[in-house]
Amino acid sequence: MNTITLLQPDDWHAHLRDGLALERTVPDLAKQFSRAICMPNLVPPVKTVEEAEAYRSRIMAHVPEGIEFDPRMVLYFTDQTSPKEILKIKKSEHVNAIKLYPAGATTNSDNGVSDISKVYAVIEQLEKYQVPLLLHGEVTHNHVDIFDREKRFLDEVLSPLMKQFPGLKLVLEHITTSEAANFVLEHDRNVAATITPQHLLFNRNDMLVGGVKPHFYCLPILKRQTHQQTLLEVATSGNPKFFLGTDSAPHSKNAKENTCGCAGCYSAPTAIELYAQAFDQAGKIDRLEGFASHFGADFYGLPRNTSTITLVKEDQIIPESLDYLDGEKIVPLYAGKTIQWRKL
Ligand code: NCD
Ligand code: ZN
Repeated sequence: MNTITLLQPDDWHAHLRDGLALERTVPDLAKQFSRAICMPNLVPPVKTVEEAEAYRSRIMAHVPEGIEFDPRMVLYFTDQTSPKEILKIKKSEHVNAIKLYPAGATTNSDNGVSDISKVYAVIEQLEKYQVPLLLHGEVTHNHVDIFDREKRFLDEVLSPLMKQFPGLKLVLEHITTSEAANFVLEHDRNVAATITPQHLLFNRNDMLVGGVKPHFYCLPILKRQTHQQTLLEVATSGNPKFFLGTDSAPHSKNAKENTCGCAGCYSAPTAIELYAQAFDQAGKIDRLEGFASHFGADFYGLPRNTSTITLVKEDQIIPESLDYLDGEKIVPLYAGKTIQWRKL
């Protein structure tokens, strides 16, 4: 198959940042996706429906002429989140979920939840109103190995949480392990997961063999190949519990190529082509549409898109770098490399 047409895809996990960064990130994402879950880990974070609406307006101001883009907003869960905010989410037109970052787990997560058992009053409301809880599923204790942090989160945090709130609707974001894939498979339709292009295309060897490659560094960190294999299997299986979430997370070239480099891969400009590459390599390009364009919308209870995009099997070279902020650069995921798919 050399050409495929699919319903316009959506990105259920993206970081657009704020201010000047939006000049780069919003056009890049809006050219690829019709809707995107816009992550709230700004400094300071987006904590209320009102703040989310204001952030959405700042995003909308950067959508290029002639492109339709519908940012879906998310609140940042803190120890102080009021249970009353959940009904506001339920009633709001643009806010769809709340994101829980364990404090200290990743970029801009210092205001995250310090202990999930302290916020059960809010989680009760999430279950009651069926507002999705989006999870950065890693524990943060210093003594837990970075490669084990996702699995430990499932065992120590998520399993007890699901016992307490069996009706909770949740998305395990950017899953990276077989254990996470199995956790999702073992639960009912209310438990879903997003998968990034980097976790489908790469494993920790790509990041660490032959020199440290900081542009593959993201959180949760790339795992061994067997996990990559399982993620490919579930993503291409046609199971609606797994859907597209790029976790495109911009950091300037300087911030990545640094003695203490930031976590995050910038995939927005060629995200759908990267996924096409992964699905095609697995011999499952026909499964891309469900993953990219149906299952996420269905999970969130939003209508599927109606327009289409076309991808052709044709080489394209990913740029070495792109302009970012005022005079800085950003290096996209797989920069300088050739992929076999191109979006028309
Ligand atoms: C994200 C970021 O930079 O905001 N980084 C990342 O490595 N994925 C945060 C996140 O989603 O963990
Ligand atoms: Zn993210």
